Amino acid sequence: MAETRNLGTKNFFCVCIFTITLYHAVLTSAENRYVADYSKQSLDAVPKILPAQTEVLDLSQNNISEFGTSDFNYLSQLRILKVAHNFIRELNFSIFQYNKNLEYIDLSHNKLWTVSCHPVTSLRHLNLSYNEFQSMPMCSEFGKMVKLEYLALSAIRIQKSDFSVLALLQLDTLFLGLEDLSEYKAENLSAFNTKNLQIALPQNEEFHIVLNLDLSTTGGLELSNMQDNHVSDLNTLLRKLDKNGRLRNLTLSHVKTTLRNILDVFQNVWRTTIEYFDIYYMALSHLSQSITIPDYAENSLKSLMINHVMSKEIEFDQAKIYKLFADMNISALTISNAHFIHMLCPSKPSRFTYLSFPFNTITDNLFEKCNNLSLLEKLILHANQFKEFTKVSLMTSHMKSLKYLDMSQNLLHHEDHEKGCHWGENLAELNLSSNQLSDSVFHCLPVNIQKLDLQNNQISSIPKEIVELKALEELNLALNRLTDLPQCGQFRSLRLLNMEMNSIAAPSSEFYHTCPSIKEVKAENNPFRCSCEIREFIDLRKQGLVVLVGWPESYQCKYPEEVRGIRLENFHISELVCNSTLLVAVILVITVVFAAIVCFLCIYLDIPWYLKMMRQWTQVKHRIWKNPADVPDDIEFHAFISYSEHDSDWVKNVLIPNLEKEDGSIRICQHERNFIAGKSIVENIIDCIEKSYRSIFVLSPNFVQSEWCHYELYFAHHKLFRENTSSLILLLLEPIPPYIIPAKYYKLKALMAKRTYMEWPAETSKHGLFWANLRAAIHVSLPRSNEINELEI
Ligand SMILES: *[C@@H]1O[C@H](CO)[C@@H](O)[C@H](O)[C@H]1NC(C)=O
Repeated sequence: MAETRNLGTKNFFCVCIFTITLYHAVLTSAENRYVADYSKQSLDAVPKILPAQTEVLDLSQNNISEFGTSDFNYLSQLRILKVAHNFIRELNFSIFQYNKNLEYIDLSHNKLWTVSCHPVTSLRHLNLSYNEFQSMPMCSEFGKMVKLEYLALSAIRIQKSDFSVLALLQLDTLFLGLEDLSEYKAENLSAFNTKNLQIALPQNEEFHIVLNLDLSTTGGLELSNMQDNHVSDLNTLLRKLDKNGRLRNLTLSHVKTTLRNILDVFQNVWRTTIEYFDIYYMALSHLSQSITIPDYAENSLKSLMINHVMSKEIEFDQAKIYKLFADMNISALTISNAHFIHMLCPSKPSRFTYLSFPFNTITDNLFEKCNNLSLLEKLILHANQFKEFTKVSLMTSHMKSLKYLDMSQNLLHHEDHEKGCHWGENLAELNLSSNQLSDSVFHCLPVNIQKLDLQNNQISSIPKEIVELKALEELNLALNRLTDLPQCGQFRSLRLLNMEMNSIAAPSSEFYHTCPSIKEVKAENNPFRCSCEIREFIDLRKQGLVVLVGWPESYQCKYPEEVRGIRLENFHISELVCNSTLLVAVILVITVVFAAIVCFLCIYLDIPWYLKMMRQWTQVKHRIWKNPADVPDDIEFHAFISYSEHDSDWVKNVLIPNLEKEDGSIRICQHERNFIAGKSIVENIIDCIEKSYRSIFVLSPNFVQSEWCHYELYFAHHKLFRENTSSLILLLLEPIPPYIIPAKYYKLKALMAKRTYMEWPAETSKHGLFWANLRAAIHVSLPRSNEINELEI
């Protein structure tokens, strides 16, 4: 049971891995083709389940040792099959009979020793090289693969008949990998019918394959793995070529020979129809042998390129070698990685339009005062040992046609005090990247320069007073020490500006206003400080004034710490923080609005009234609490109310009912109600006043005019002063204009002036507080009425 479950898990696991592999392997490439990449997966067989729509199948670098008959037959879309570096031993081309679209098969570096033939007529590219075939794996069926363009083969034995079938084909390229050739029995190899022939020559120099080549139909010849003998053979072959041949391109790589032998090649090449001659990886010996400089007569050669020259010898006549190249009458010469320390000026006006000497150790004195390079348009001196910038300018001053100069990756520097820069008048492109130039380089630039590459130098700012560079359109200042974008005062045609990886914290937008033609700015990976100043820069982009290359991912805040890593795109800071005038204005507006709201509320809700009432109420409470009233024994009432007859309605219907509660806790003395018969009204009133703790006077214009009332007031006032208590409560029922009060009532006037009265509020909402206040003012526990509660409110 457990066993089964285990197995189940395992299977599930396998399916999973397979699915994942498939998912990774099958990708839709750019051209919408199904690419199944199974390379380097230690497979030992072709996967059984492949997507039927697979067009490109890569099985290279696995351990596959054989193909099954039905491995590919369901892949009807298959176009490209790569099986290089496996262990396939046998191949029967008939397994591809259902792959009608198959164009490309790479089976190089396997263990094939036999093939069974079947014409795969769709095939364009077939690589069977570096297998274990004893003789050339030729089938007569190859002759039927009329679309074949590229064929690569290798073998240990070659016989004359081997290539006869090739005569039927029109190949573009035939590659023969013959390093391990051990038996060679052919006198000539005329049967090749190919435009380009590539041969990796045998280790064994005794096989004179080169001698036997028939190049009558060949336009390009590439020979690699050349020993000295092969070079001699090549010389013989070249001498036999006539001026009517088709050979245009000759490439030699991995050449081991003597100086004299290679010079013979030059001499012979000069006599042929070859136009482009390239040599890669040449080990030279016998450098001190006496040599004769070839005679560079009329010729068709246009370009010579030598890349990588090695030699163990150091003692030889360098001048002779330099002269050998300097006087070549060709238009393009490249010598790179050749340890050259110099090059001579051609001894007569030269045809050179293109010279390239990168990766050497050439120094400042190159082409000093050299007048014979007036046709030179492009000069490439990348990665040498040039130091003095002024000397470089002088070198070009005689090169009337020079347009392009590459001095990148040297040791160039220029000091402020140095004078005397003279550049070739047509110099338009200058590459000065990766040198040691500082700000002063701007005092020594060609005036007609259009493209200037100054990346990776030590420039910290562009001086203001420089010669106007009217034509400058592209300026690369990446990887310097600049702290701001430049102003284009002196180069107003600038279109492209590269300021990547400098020290720009807050790029000013100023630059935009001085650069009317600017289109594109690269300012990626600078240590941007994200604060108010950066907004202008971001706005430039927003407004579409410039294109920022690499936006937004390469534009991030570096400072301040709390926003580090945030993209500039996502950095927002409010206008208010950055604009102090606006800030002041906003604060002002807010203050004004707030004040207005407070005023409005005060007026609308009558807040001062409430405050006044609350104050009075607390004062009363406070007084009661501080000195509990010592009420005389003869006091029977809490208050006596005096009022004008005109206000009696209000007093009887509003005031008294609100003061006297049902529980009888407050008692009012009203002279009409508590009238004692037999006493005069005045006596009654006086009696009432004297028996009351407080006297409430209801003030109104009517009251002021009433004799009685004044009389009452007089008594009360009298008592007030006599007993020195604040027994008087003035209640203002209606406003009294001061002029109504007759002058003789100066006491009333004084009381009114002190504003110690309570006003009857018109608004009903305020009445509650009014009553509470009034009750608090008259409330006291009377000695003769024990039933009265101490605190009511
Ligand atoms: C200048 O030279 C450098 C290094 O050789 C190269 O990467 C760069 O592309 C060149 N600049 C131009 C404008 O060609």
